[in-house]
Amino acid sequence: MILQTEKLTYKYPNSHGHTAVDQADISLHKGETVGLFGESGSGKSTLGLILAGLIKPTSGMLRHNGEKISAPYKGAHRRGIQILFQHPEISFNPALILLKSMTEPYNIYALPYSYSSLLEYLKHYGLYEEHLYRTPAQLSGGELQRAALARILAIQPEVIVLDEPTSMLDVITQVQIMNILKDYQSKNNVSYILISHNRILCEKMCGRIYKVENGVFTEEYGRPTDK
Ligand SMILES: Nc1ncnc2c1ncn2[C@@H]1O[C@H](COP(=O)(O)OP(=O)(O)OP(=O)(O)O)[C@@H](O)[C@H]1O
Ligand SMILES: [Mg+2]
Repeated sequence: MILQTEKLTYKYPNSHGHTAVDQADISLHKGETVGLFGESGSGKSTLGLILAGLIKPTSGMLRHNGEKISAPYKGAHRRGIQILFQHPEISFNPALILLKSMTEPYNIYALPYSYSSLLEYLKHYGLYEEHLYRTPAQLSGGELQRAALARILAIQPEVIVLDEPTSMLDVITQVQIMNILKDYQSKNNVSYILISHNRILCEKMCGRIYKVENGVFTEEYGRPTDK
Protein backbone atom coordinates (compact mmCIF):
# COMPACT_ATOMS: atom_id res chain seq x y z
CA MET A 1 0.00 0.00 0.00
CA ILE A 2 1.62 3.21 -1.11
CA LEU A 3 -0.74 5.58 0.71
CA GLN A 4 -3.21 4.87 3.45
CA THR A 5 -5.25 7.16 5.64
CA GLU A 6 -7.00 6.41 8.91
CA LYS A 7 -9.91 8.58 9.95
CA LEU A 8 -8.40 11.68 8.37
CA THR A 9 -10.42 14.70 9.43
CA TYR A 10 -10.11 18.36 8.58
CA LYS A 11 -11.97 21.42 9.81
CA TYR A 12 -10.94 24.80 8.40
CA PRO A 13 -10.11 27.15 11.27
CA ASN A 14 -12.80 29.64 10.24
CA SER A 15 -15.47 27.10 9.32
CA HIS A 16 -17.71 27.29 12.44
CA GLY A 17 -17.50 23.58 13.14
CA HIS A 18 -18.16 22.39 9.57
CA THR A 19 -16.11 19.28 8.81
CA ALA A 20 -14.58 19.51 5.32
CA VAL A 21 -13.12 15.97 5.52
CA ASP A 22 -14.81 13.58 7.92
CA GLN A 23 -12.84 10.51 9.07
CA ALA A 24 -11.68 9.52 5.58
CA ASP A 25 -10.20 6.04 5.16
CA ILE A 26 -8.52 5.99 1.76
CA SER A 27 -6.05 3.53 0.32
CA LEU A 28 -3.89 3.66 -2.78
CA HIS A 29 -1.84 0.81 -4.24
CA LYS A 30 1.24 1.02 -6.43
CA GLY A 31 0.37 1.69 -10.06
CA GLU A 32 -3.30 2.30 -9.27
CA THR A 33 -5.55 5.23 -10.17
CA VAL A 34 -8.19 6.00 -7.59
CA GLY A 35 -10.92 8.56 -8.17
CA LEU A 36 -12.43 11.04 -5.74
CA PHE A 37 -15.77 11.93 -7.23
CA GLY A 38 -18.30 14.31 -5.73
CA GLU A 39 -20.10 17.61 -5.92
CA SER A 40 -18.57 21.02 -5.47
CA GLY A 41 -17.72 21.68 -1.83
CA SER A 42 -17.80 18.00 -0.82
CA GLY A 43 -14.18 18.00 0.41
CA LYS A 44 -12.17 16.48 -2.47
CA SER A 45 -9.55 19.23 -2.79
CA THR A 46 -9.18 19.44 0.98
CA LEU A 47 -8.30 15.74 1.12
CA GLY A 48 -5.94 16.25 -1.85
CA LEU A 49 -4.13 19.05 0.01
CA ILE A 50 -3.76 16.84 3.09
CA LEU A 51 -2.40 13.92 1.03
CA ALA A 52 0.07 16.23 -0.70
CA GLY A 53 1.26 17.49 2.68
CA LEU A 54 0.16 21.07 2.11
CA ILE A 55 -2.19 21.17 5.11
CA LYS A 56 -2.10 19.18 8.33
CA PRO A 57 -5.18 17.15 9.23
CA THR A 58 -7.11 18.17 12.34
CA SER A 59 -7.02 14.50 13.36
CA GLY A 60 -6.34 11.09 11.87
CA MET A 61 -3.31 9.48 10.33
CA LEU A 62 -1.56 9.16 7.00
CA ARG A 63 0.98 6.53 5.95
CA HIS A 64 3.32 6.51 2.94
CA ASN A 65 4.78 3.08 2.22
CA GLY A 66 3.70 2.05 5.71
CA GLU A 67 5.50 4.94 7.42
CA LYS A 68 3.52 7.53 9.37
CA ILE A 69 4.02 10.95 7.82
CA SER A 70 3.00 14.49 8.69
CA ALA A 71 3.30 17.79 6.85
CA PRO A 72 5.58 19.38 5.85
CA TYR A 73 7.04 16.28 4.20
CA LYS A 74 10.77 15.78 3.94
CA GLY A 75 13.13 13.63 1.88
CA ALA A 76 11.55 10.69 0.04
CA HIS A 77 8.05 11.65 1.18
CA ARG A 78 8.40 15.16 -0.20
CA ARG A 79 9.73 13.97 -3.52
CA GLY A 80 7.39 10.99 -3.67
CA ILE A 81 4.02 12.73 -3.29
CA GLN A 82 3.18 15.56 -5.68
CA ILE A 83 0.05 17.50 -6.64
CA LEU A 84 -1.14 18.92 -9.97
CA PHE A 85 -3.70 21.69 -9.58
CA GLN A 86 -6.60 22.73 -11.77
CA HIS A 87 -5.04 26.19 -12.10
CA PRO A 88 -1.37 25.64 -13.02
CA GLU A 89 -0.54 29.33 -12.34
CA ILE A 90 -0.55 28.41 -8.62
CA SER A 91 2.58 26.30 -9.09
CA PHE A 92 4.60 28.88 -11.06
CA ASN A 93 6.32 32.05 -9.98
CA PRO A 94 4.67 34.67 -12.24
CA ALA A 95 7.93 36.64 -12.54
CA LEU A 96 10.06 33.77 -13.83
CA ILE A 97 10.49 32.66 -17.41
CA LEU A 98 9.55 29.03 -17.94
CA LEU A 99 13.20 27.97 -18.31
CA LYS A 100 13.87 28.92 -14.67
CA SER A 101 10.80 27.08 -13.41
CA MET A 102 11.55 23.98 -15.45
CA THR A 103 15.12 23.66 -14.18
CA GLU A 104 14.02 24.07 -10.54
CA PRO A 105 13.24 20.38 -9.84
CA TYR A 106 16.55 19.28 -11.33
CA ASN A 107 18.36 21.70 -9.06
CA ILE A 108 16.32 20.91 -5.94
CA TYR A 109 16.73 17.15 -6.30
CA ALA A 110 20.22 17.28 -7.82
CA LEU A 111 19.09 15.45 -10.98
CA PRO A 112 21.34 15.60 -14.03
CA TYR A 113 20.16 17.63 -17.05
CA SER A 114 21.48 19.77 -19.84
CA TYR A 115 19.80 22.49 -21.88
CA SER A 116 19.48 20.14 -24.86
CA SER A 117 18.17 17.23 -22.76
CA LEU A 118 15.56 19.57 -21.28
CA LEU A 119 14.48 20.69 -24.77
CA GLU A 120 14.21 17.07 -25.87
CA TYR A 121 12.21 16.17 -22.75
CA LEU A 122 9.78 19.08 -23.18
CA LYS A 123 9.01 18.17 -26.80
CA HIS A 124 7.05 15.24 -25.45
CA TYR A 125 4.78 17.77 -23.69
CA GLY A 126 4.33 19.93 -26.80
CA LEU A 127 6.68 22.61 -25.42
CA TYR A 128 9.51 24.13 -27.45
CA GLU A 129 12.43 26.52 -27.02
CA GLU A 130 10.28 29.59 -27.76
CA HIS A 131 8.07 28.76 -24.72
CA LEU A 132 11.04 28.67 -22.36
CA TYR A 133 11.61 32.42 -22.56
CA ARG A 134 8.03 33.38 -21.67
CA THR A 135 6.50 34.05 -18.25
CA PRO A 136 3.44 32.03 -17.15
CA ALA A 137 1.09 34.86 -18.23
CA GLN A 138 2.50 34.57 -21.77
CA LEU A 139 1.56 30.89 -22.08
CA SER A 140 -1.85 29.36 -22.74
CA GLY A 141 -3.65 27.42 -20.00
CA GLY A 142 -2.93 24.14 -21.81
CA GLU A 143 0.76 24.94 -22.30
CA LEU A 144 1.12 25.89 -18.65
CA GLN A 145 -0.66 22.75 -17.46
CA ARG A 146 1.60 20.60 -19.66
CA ALA A 147 4.61 22.44 -18.21
CA ALA A 148 3.33 21.83 -14.67
CA LEU A 149 2.94 18.14 -15.46
CA ALA A 150 6.38 17.94 -17.11
CA ARG A 151 7.91 19.53 -14.03
CA ILE A 152 6.25 17.03 -11.70
CA LEU A 153 7.10 13.97 -13.81
CA ALA A 154 10.74 15.08 -14.08
CA ILE A 155 11.22 14.19 -10.42
CA GLN A 156 9.62 10.74 -10.82
CA PRO A 157 7.16 10.84 -7.93
CA GLU A 158 5.43 7.71 -6.63
CA VAL A 159 2.03 9.36 -6.14
CA ILE A 160 0.43 12.31 -7.90
CA VAL A 161 -2.75 13.96 -6.68
CA LEU A 162 -4.50 15.26 -9.80
CA ASP A 163 -6.98 17.91 -8.68
CA GLU A 164 -9.31 18.53 -11.65
CA PRO A 165 -6.22 18.63 -13.90
CA THR A 166 -8.09 19.16 -17.16
CA SER A 167 -11.36 20.81 -16.27
CA MET A 168 -10.21 24.26 -17.47
CA LEU A 169 -8.89 22.93 -20.78
CA ASP A 170 -10.32 22.21 -24.22
CA VAL A 171 -11.11 18.63 -25.15
CA ILE A 172 -7.96 18.09 -27.26
CA THR A 173 -5.65 19.27 -24.46
CA GLN A 174 -7.65 17.18 -21.96
CA VAL A 175 -7.06 14.05 -24.03
CA GLN A 176 -3.34 14.91 -24.50
CA ILE A 177 -2.84 15.29 -20.75
CA MET A 178 -4.76 12.14 -19.88
CA ASN A 179 -2.76 10.21 -22.49
CA ILE A 180 0.55 11.52 -21.10
CA LEU A 181 -0.58 10.45 -17.61
CA LYS A 182 -1.65 6.97 -18.74
CA ASP A 183 1.50 6.44 -20.79
CA TYR A 184 3.71 7.57 -17.89
CA GLN A 185 1.85 5.26 -15.50
CA SER A 186 2.22 2.23 -17.73
CA LYS A 187 5.99 2.79 -17.88
CA ASN A 188 6.66 3.91 -14.30
CA ASN A 189 3.99 2.27 -12.15
CA VAL A 190 3.11 5.61 -10.56
CA SER A 191 -0.14 5.91 -8.56
CA TYR A 192 -2.72 8.64 -9.13
CA ILE A 193 -5.51 10.12 -7.06
CA LEU A 194 -7.82 11.70 -9.62
CA ILE A 195 -10.14 14.36 -8.23
CA SER A 196 -13.01 15.12 -10.55
CA HIS A 197 -16.68 15.90 -10.73
CA ASN A 198 -16.73 14.26 -14.17
CA ARG A 199 -18.12 10.76 -13.65
CA ILE A 200 -17.23 9.57 -17.15
CA LEU A 201 -13.59 10.66 -16.78
CA CYS A 202 -13.37 8.98 -13.36
CA GLU A 203 -14.79 5.73 -14.71
CA LYS A 204 -12.47 5.79 -17.71
CA MET A 205 -9.31 6.47 -15.69
CA CYS A 206 -9.91 4.79 -12.33
CA GLY A 207 -9.93 1.23 -11.05
CA ARG A 208 -11.66 2.34 -7.85
CA ILE A 209 -13.65 5.42 -6.97
CA TYR A 210 -14.50 7.04 -3.66
CA LYS A 211 -17.76 8.94 -3.76
CA VAL A 212 -17.52 12.10 -1.67
CA GLU A 213 -20.56 13.61 0.00
CA ASN A 214 -20.31 16.36 2.56
CA GLY A 215 -16.84 15.32 3.71
CA VAL A 216 -17.64 11.60 3.83
CA PHE A 217 -15.62 9.31 1.51
CA THR A 218 -17.31 6.03 0.52
CA GLU A 219 -15.57 3.49 -1.67
CA GLU A 220 -17.36 2.18 -4.72
CA TYR A 221 -16.08 0.26 -7.69
CA GLY A 222 -15.69 1.77 -11.14
CA ARG A 223 -14.72 -0.03 -14.29
CA PRO A 224 -11.23 -1.57 -14.36
CA THR A 225 -8.54 0.97 -15.31
CA ASP A 226 -8.42 1.35 -19.07
CA LYS A 227 -4.68 1.21 -19.69
N1 LIG B 1 -9.77 28.02 2.98
C1 LIG B 1 -10.99 27.63 3.39
N2 LIG B 1 -11.53 28.14 4.52
C2 LIG B 1 -12.75 27.72 4.98
N3 LIG B 1 -13.49 26.78 4.36
C3 LIG B 1 -12.99 26.24 3.23
C4 LIG B 1 -11.74 26.64 2.68
N4 LIG B 1 -11.52 25.93 1.54
C5 LIG B 1 -12.59 25.13 1.39
N5 LIG B 1 -13.48 25.32 2.40
C6 LIG B 1 -14.77 24.61 2.59
O1 LIG B 1 -14.49 23.23 2.79
C7 LIG B 1 -15.46 22.44 2.11
C8 LIG B 1 -14.76 21.50 1.14
O2 LIG B 1 -14.12 22.30 0.12
P1 LIG B 1 -13.23 21.65 -1.02
O3 LIG B 1 -12.52 22.75 -1.70
O4 LIG B 1 -12.42 20.55 -0.43
O5 LIG B 1 -14.35 21.02 -1.97
P2 LIG B 1 -14.24 20.32 -3.41
O6 LIG B 1 -14.95 19.01 -3.29
O7 LIG B 1 -12.84 20.31 -3.85
O8 LIG B 1 -15.11 21.29 -4.33
P3 LIG B 1 -14.91 21.72 -5.89
O9 LIG B 1 -15.44 20.54 -6.70
O10 LIG B 1 -15.78 22.92 -6.04
O11 LIG B 1 -13.47 22.00 -6.13
C9 LIG B 1 -16.43 23.41 1.47
O12 LIG B 1 -17.54 23.56 2.34
C10 LIG B 1 -15.64 24.69 1.37
O13 LIG B 1 -16.50 25.82 1.44
MG1 LIG C 1 -11.84 21.24 -5.45
